[in-house]
Amino acid sequence: MQKKVIKKGRIYWPGKEIKKNAWVNSDKIYSKADKNPIKFWEDCAKELEWKIKWKKSYKEKIPFFKWFIGGKINICYNAIDRHLKNKSDKTALIWIPEPVNEKPIKITYKELHKQVCKTANLLKKFKVKKGDVVSIYLPMIPEVVIFMLACARIGAIHSVVFSAFSSDALKTRIKDNKAKLLITADGYYRKDKQEDLKKKIREAIKKTSIKNTIFVKRFDKRAKLNKKEFWYDEELKQVKEECLAKAFDSETPLFLLYTSGTTGKPKGIVHETGGYAVQAYKSTQLNFNIHDDDVMWCTADVGWVTGHTYMCYGPLLNGSTSIIYEGMINFPNPGRCWKIVQEHKVSVFYTAPTAIRMFKLWGEKWPEKYNLKSLKILGTVGEPIDYSTWEWYFKHIGHKKCPVIDTWWQTETGATLINSLPGIGPFIPSVSGKSFPGTKHTIMNEQGKLIKKGEGYLVQLSPFAPGMLRTIWKNKKAYKEKYWIFNNKLKQFYITGDAAEIDKKGYIRILGRTDDVMKVAGHRISTAEMEDAIINHKSISEAAVVSKPDKIKGEVPIAFVKSNQKINENEIIKLVVDKIGPIARPSEIYFVNDLPKTRSGKIMRRVLKTLLKNEELGELSTLVNPESVEEIKNAINSKKI
Ligand code: WTA
Repeated sequence: MQKKVIKKGRIYWPGKEIKKNAWVNSDKIYSKADKNPIKFWEDCAKELEWKIKWKKSYKEKIPFFKWFIGGKINICYNAIDRHLKNKSDKTALIWIPEPVNEKPIKITYKELHKQVCKTANLLKKFKVKKGDVVSIYLPMIPEVVIFMLACARIGAIHSVVFSAFSSDALKTRIKDNKAKLLITADGYYRKDKQEDLKKKIREAIKKTSIKNTIFVKRFDKRAKLNKKEFWYDEELKQVKEECLAKAFDSETPLFLLYTSGTTGKPKGIVHETGGYAVQAYKSTQLNFNIHDDDVMWCTADVGWVTGHTYMCYGPLLNGSTSIIYEGMINFPNPGRCWKIVQEHKVSVFYTAPTAIRMFKLWGEKWPEKYNLKSLKILGTVGEPIDYSTWEWYFKHIGHKKCPVIDTWWQTETGATLINSLPGIGPFIPSVSGKSFPGTKHTIMNEQGKLIKKGEGYLVQLSPFAPGMLRTIWKNKKAYKEKYWIFNNKLKQFYITGDAAEIDKKGYIRILGRTDDVMKVAGHRISTAEMEDAIINHKSISEAAVVSKPDKIKGEVPIAFVKSNQKINENEIIKLVVDKIGPIARPSEIYFVNDLPKTRSGKIMRRVLKTLLKNEELGELSTLVNPESVEEIKNAINSKKI
């Protein structure tokens, strides 16, 4: 097993300069943290400012655990106010609008402070209190960060929803968390076109708990608003500039972020304040070797956890500069990213394998047009990165000088957990690396036993990382069952839902999800959610969605539907796009007479997956209708849709 990990591909180590500049450059950090992981995290926590120090660092009673108990902290204070003494004029955010004729906007820590304080007062004016959920449906504009921090400042819980999600998706989330206030914008730019959000929003909030909506003005022309709809800029004129950051208990909920699981309904992952702050802070610092002169660009949308932690909280907690880019990575041409890197001297570039595969497809002629010398570290996240994509990134973007940090983590984990550190290495294409100091991951086999090397289910061991989820919003039962129960038994470890292989030195290669969750272009999509949408069609009696490997997107969703009459494919596509959003659009649809099923009526998605990959089917004796397999095979082979 060890041989397998090490043998596949070359191994890279950090150069002298990287080692010299790195926060950590010796393996000792791992052994020291291993001896006393709680002390490791305590030391990290001490680097932030706490109003009241914690009394007990860690407590667990599986499936629940707490960090920094009794401690009081304000994450917004730590992300902004803490830097005002020495860095008030330093740029905190650089916003780059998509239209090339609009100028980027730089916001200093001082300006950010003022804006966040006013916005927090505005939230109070709208009767938002500690513990209330505020729904944020904003595109990639600075106000998204401002509102997140404003919520945190007053102890409100933000629930950011990806602005390309459908109206229905927003409604589902609001219905689950009962938010009373919605923060949104009139729209945003996509390929020079104005994407209007108003209609989607008005539809989404019908028959929900939302009482008022605040609109950030993105377009020049002021649209007509209805009653209970307010312009942010106008409202802001009416509030004071001072807003004290009250400290809250470490275990106070900070945000909800909905993600796809194995059911038809997305689940609200709950993250708490203190532990998340500590891990977001430390992981940004160590993974990306953040120093004062760094400019970090995490390309992920803020609607995903990557944007929360590495566009918003992580860089700001480190007093760094973070880039927010509004638009498409290839607009107006595939050189856009590299133009941004050159112009803003980006030193840390963090993106998803899908984007890198696109860059590779567009060719090195685009990055070659620009000066990328400012780059020091490259990061990747969201899906397994294949060997040749890794090498291309390393060679053509990093010019063989920048370590590629392949970070494994999840919405649930809040921050990165498995990757190599830049000053230590090694950097092995397709291998993420070791567990972050102070955390421990290993493999569980089919029998539910832990093994130290080999392949199986990836699990995290106690003490659980401080930034981990604490529960699922209003659904402790689902939390327990999803992450802690295996073979009907409560386990003393967190089950990630991924398969992986580990060698005896602790290097981990991620193999992919073990459940019905797909990663399409790095976006997490539930097959069950798609099936629920499709089944809404009156002529469809059954549907099964599975993923198929794709050269660019990693995986794409394929739908198999059983219907009693001929239907147009577009009707199915519309159902999915309306319920989830364009990212879930099925890339192929097969109309079939029957779906392969077990005697108990369960659809055998494994069979469909295997057929799509054109692989050997193996054992089929559990199927009640083996003849369905032949029909589907023929449909796939003839691409008859
Ligand atoms: C997958 C994204 C391979 C994994 C931060 C995980 C990865 C899921 C990697 C979480 C990686 C994330 N290599 N696979 N470096 N990073 N994944 O919640 O399957 O959108 O469980 O969080 O993405 O997706 P999520």
